[in-house]
Amino acid sequence: MPRPRNKSNELAQLLRNYESRNVTYVSGESPVFWESASDTTVTDADGNTYLDLTAAFGVANCGHANPNITAALQRQAARLSHAMGDVHPAAVKVQLLEKLAAIAPGDLTKSFLGSSGSDAIEAAMKTAMLATGKPAFAAFRGSYHGLSIGTLEVAGIKKFREPFLAWLPERTLLLDYPRGNAAQALEYARRAFSRRYDLAAVIVEPIQGRGGCVVPPPGYLAQLREICRERGMLMIADEIYTGFGRTGTMFACEQESVVPDILCLGKAMGNGFPISAAVASPGVMDAWPASEGEALHTSTHLGNPMGCAAALASIAELESRELPRRAATLGNRLATKLNALHASGKVAGVRGRGLMWGIELQDAAQARAAVEKALTKGVLILQAGEQGNVLSITPPLTISEADLDRGIDVVESCIA
Ligand SMILES: Cc1ncc(COP(=O)(O)O)c(C=O)c1O
Repeated sequence: MPRPRNKSNELAQLLRNYESRNVTYVSGESPVFWESASDTTVTDADGNTYLDLTAAFGVANCGHANPNITAALQRQAARLSHAMGDVHPAAVKVQLLEKLAAIAPGDLTKSFLGSSGSDAIEAAMKTAMLATGKPAFAAFRGSYHGLSIGTLEVAGIKKFREPFLAWLPERTLLLDYPRGNAAQALEYARRAFSRRYDLAAVIVEPIQGRGGCVVPPPGYLAQLREICRERGMLMIADEIYTGFGRTGTMFACEQESVVPDILCLGKAMGNGFPISAAVASPGVMDAWPASEGEALHTSTHLGNPMGCAAALASIAELESRELPRRAATLGNRLATKLNALHASGKVAGVRGRGLMWGIELQDAAQARAAVEKALTKGVLILQAGEQGNVLSITPPLTISEADLDRGIDVVESCIA
């Protein structure tokens, strides 16, 4: 029986009147309007329920409406919901900064807080420019670092940049994201860097998320780290998607013992409350002059106390329930299932780590059809990849084994 969608249809109609038409894709079964969510279950405006295999863009790592995080937000809202981030900050901001310094790898102990992932990337870009005195960046094709005008300069997906090229300096050295042989990919990067003396940093996702869950070959990130050191370039790790346990450790870089110069965080940091950070070593971060009364880089909501409380509660939840380890264990289970799917010849490829996986299909049309069909069967997945031909699977790290198995069985049944 088809799922009721009267309310979703009505809301979609209204949306057409009041939202920029570029934002929400309205067609066929999409969108469904979320009314509530609990752990891995989402309920829409018509009362239909869905198993969420997206964690809502990789945000709800601790599960939707996680009771401990909700309680922390309620306590904070009753006490203080806004302060003066860079003038008279909330006390809880200090607690969060201290915690970030404790969990970030190596000597990454000093942060800029922000609200969105793009905020964190822009703070990292400015920091790298000040620390090196250089104006340009290297980035990877297929990479996604946000859509603000600053981050578009390093966007690896062409269509996002093209309408705005007139505004962009276009100084970015775009490299192919490594697939296959690490040594060859490193040689290619070395050669490309050798022709450029203006690079402040290379910005890299340890696993490309939006780009279709592309995993670099083992050893690549560690060697890239070394090349950056040799060339006096910084390494900015964009862990906005991979961070906070998603790939089986708190941060994906740790799996290659890589300590970047700047670590960018967002998404799951507040488990649904918008907050982000760029975390650097004192040597790099202190390229900024001490404030003489007016910050050169800040924003109204920097260090928002609600965001800080949500982030502290999320990190506590990840740690006390050992959710990164759980992602690693469930990831092995998922790998077995997805590798079997690949072996069946039904899909072009599967790849991932922890609870971040991509299923590569023939083309975008096949992927779109699978996403829509899964929706009608009560499972939420996303389309990803530069060509749109990848199904991305990034459930909350709290998902049960039974739900994970059931969800993947549904996804499999939706692939034509
Ligand atoms: C790896 C990565 N970096 C940056 C961003 C941008 O974050 P935001 O959309 O919060 O600006 C995203 C968003 O999907 C992302 O996946």
